[in-house]
Amino acid sequence: MARHLQVALLSLVVVFVHFLQVWSHGDTGDTGSPCMRNMGVKLQAFYVPGSITIDGLDVDWSSVKRNSFALNPALTDDPDTAYPSGSMEIKVAHDGRDIFFLLQIPGAYKFDVNEKNMAAISLMFPVGDDATYHNMGGCPEASTTCNATSCFGHEVDLLHFEINQAIPGRLYGENIADSLNGTGRDSFGKLNDGYAWNPHCRSYDGMTPTGVVTGGGQNNWRGSWTHSTTDTKYGLVAADSPYGALDGTGTYTFEFARPLRTNDALQQDVQFTIGSTHGMSAAFWYPVAGSAWMPYQHYSVSCDWLQLEIITNGPSLPSSSKLGSALSVFSLLFALASLAVAVTVGWRIRQSSRIAFNPISSSSL
Ligand SMILES: *[C@@H]1O[C@H](CO)[C@@H](O)[C@H](O)[C@H]1NC(C)=O
Ligand SMILES: *[C@@H]1O[C@H](CO)[C@@H](O)[C@H](O)[C@H]1NC(C)=O
Repeated sequence: MARHLQVALLSLVVVFVHFLQVWSHGDTGDTGSPCMRNMGVKLQAFYVPGSITIDGLDVDWSSVKRNSFALNPALTDDPDTAYPSGSMEIKVAHDGRDIFFLLQIPGAYKFDVNEKNMAAISLMFPVGDDATYHNMGGCPEASTTCNATSCFGHEVDLLHFEINQAIPGRLYGENIADSLNGTGRDSFGKLNDGYAWNPHCRSYDGMTPTGVVTGGGQNNWRGSWTHSTTDTKYGLVAADSPYGALDGTGTYTFEFARPLRTNDALQQDVQFTIGSTHGMSAAFWYPVAGSAWMPYQHYSVSCDWLQLEIITNGPSLPSSSKLGSALSVFSLLFALASLAVAVTVGWRIRQSSRIAFNPISSSSL
């Protein structure tokens, strides 16, 4: 009994220490200088219409520029305990309606449908004016007092995808059942659309952090994953699990799409604008050392928001403006010609017909 109590107390201390670490999210510690790694690095989402399929494969992304980020632990940013197998590569594009993300991370293939802590990935975007990267929005309220009023302005938008319920190459995220309930949950593939005010106050869209369904949320993401050891060419089904050679070396590929704008009215979705720059971050969870991860045990690409610029239809801009100026020259010539015709006709009429003026009062009315 006493021993059980000891163990319980010890785990409480461990949990508490972890919470303290969460609160220093991104700093190198009290004595060190603040971490600035990759702060403000800019990614560009170019206009790439009609070429990207959300199938968890990267072949259709070859024309898009890649951005490479070392993955350090999100809480300490300690490079000595960085993700051991390599960097995360991120590509972003848009087609004028949707924004697309490709994220690739090298790592041996681990898969167990019953073990939730397999590879997982998250994207985070600031929504409110005061949403900081530190502490996922940085609302100072505790989990018992945080709500849409007390944390107003600190909203961050989250995508979170855990692979264990998802078949490689299949599409997850947006689905009718969860949308009818008005939540951003994905009850089928764990590709959830969520939000947070701080690490202790986070939830699916359309739900409070304490689990109350408020509605008004949607899962607006679509996504898919593969590992280079899986072969999705002829379609995989659940019976094919684990889908590939376990522990095989290779790369995890995650692919996501979301409409640039959503119907969110609760400040739970970032709204992207073509021509604007937004904040963004990406994180990765992986069962390093073979054991399951805890939510706080993730790797991050930076210590503050990266910048994400949604590029206006760039490549075809010069030709369309050339066409534009040709059109205006033509319009000017046409206008001048019309003016000349009008003057001539007016002058002719004036010369030829001098019709007598008939005052209205003398008419029969
Ligand atoms: C939000 O939290 C604040 C502080 O705890 C509380 O005063 C307020 O009543 C709460 N608002 C709602 C809508 O729950
Ligand atoms: C929708 O809500 C109902 C009632 O709260 C719940 O029983 C059901 O599981 C939910 N469905 C999904 C797909 O979350």
